[in-house]
Amino acid sequence: MDTYYLRSFGCQMNEHDAERIRAVLESQGLAPVATPDEARVIVYNTCTVRRSADERFAGHIGAAARIKRQDPRRTIIVTGCLPQAEREAFFATYPFVDAAIGPQNLDRLADVVSAPTRERQGFFDDRPLLSGEMAGRRTRPFQAWVQIMTGCTNACSYCIVPLVRGPERSRTVQSILGETHALVADGVREITLLGQNVNAYGRDLPRAAQEATFPSLLAALDGIDGIERIRFMTSHPRDLSDDLIAAIATLPSICEHVHLPVQSGSSAILAAMRRSYTPDMYLERVAALRHGVRDVAVTTDIIVGFPGETGSDFAATLDLVRAAAFDGAYTFMYSARAGTAAAEMPDQVATEVKRDRLQRLIALTQQEARQRRQRLVGKRCNVLVEGPSRHAGTLRGRTRQNVTVNFTGTAVAGAIVSVLVTDATSTTLRGHV
Ligand code: 5AD
Ligand code: SF4
Repeated sequence: MDTYYLRSFGCQMNEHDAERIRAVLESQGLAPVATPDEARVIVYNTCTVRRSADERFAGHIGAAARIKRQDPRRTIIVTGCLPQAEREAFFATYPFVDAAIGPQNLDRLADVVSAPTRERQGFFDDRPLLSGEMAGRRTRPFQAWVQIMTGCTNACSYCIVPLVRGPERSRTVQSILGETHALVADGVREITLLGQNVNAYGRDLPRAAQEATFPSLLAALDGIDGIERIRFMTSHPRDLSDDLIAAIATLPSICEHVHLPVQSGSSAILAAMRRSYTPDMYLERVAALRHGVRDVAVTTDIIVGFPGETGSDFAATLDLVRAAAFDGAYTFMYSARAGTAAAEMPDQVATEVKRDRLQRLIALTQQEARQRRQRLVGKRCNVLVEGPSRHAGTLRGRTRQNVTVNFTGTAVAGAIVSVLVTDATSTTLRGHV
């Protein structure tokens, strides 16, 4: 049997795209295998948001190079953001790769697989293709990603995403509703709406469709019978409108969780990052959210060591973290990306300083997340059962706030059950049905 191996790195959008890649490969008659050694077609779906992402890919691609040397009939394909950022130069570093395909060109994959050429093929055109319009092959039975928009028209000075994913592009409301109806018919109970900046949904659509705002899309999706939970990410703090807060508060299926990257707590650094809000504006939005939505969880992304970040800038970030009381935080050391404005800025921060700040920030965010979880002990949470947990005899699921719960008792996957929380760590809860 003809076979493929797929490895995907990076964000949820890449997981979404990986499901489209699977669908294309399987429609070509290929079956998945667990290791690259067994596969005729080997695909890496890459990320390049930080240097560590590039390094993870470099750690895996060596296996493909060895396999190709031993058997030149294998096909090696690299998709996603890394080749899109480097374009043709990508092949100079990885000459054994047969085809490289950027995120706006994923529909080319079928031709690459069905009619392999001896020439190297690169597809990096900036095209309006939305991978969400392609059929997907899900790996989770009750949950699905739904791409509502992609690309980003902001110009955060550290970020390579606008360069690789292009400007904002939204799908039409009809297309999103159509896909969601089909997912419900296939047993899905929870959808996660994806976009680099979901609050910008609809802004790029033609005038006739301009009533297509993100809150109105949420209302339309909430009206679909069978969808129990709707999640979304990522939101830009500047665009977190009162309308959106009201939508989360009033629409029953919208989950009480907002991922709201703050990036820094220093006014000067936020200005240099071109985030277009101040720490006070950010905290005001978090307060409005917590006031408007009962039990809402707020998570964030924070970068330490942006060029020019002083000790007092970093102290301001720690202050903001204390004031916001985040339910969770992804924390990163700044990483210079070629082609971005920040990569050219003076006063790049030394690695040891970044590392030290990161450790202090992680200690604080974990302590806070633990305290936020602790408040749930003794309470009941509605949990969507995902399946057995890693520990024998227990099940795993998630609360509406997106917290993982490991619990005992009997429940079938896909059901929503009430779990009494008995214990909390910084990342998970424990309890019983
Ligand atoms: N260096 C470090 N972190 C970055 N992020 C984006 N670009 C960079 C970079 N150059 C982080 C931001 C963003 C998350 C997805 O990755 O915090 O919200
Ligand atoms: Fe990585 Fe950004 Fe591309 Fe997602 S969009 S895969 S985070 S570079």
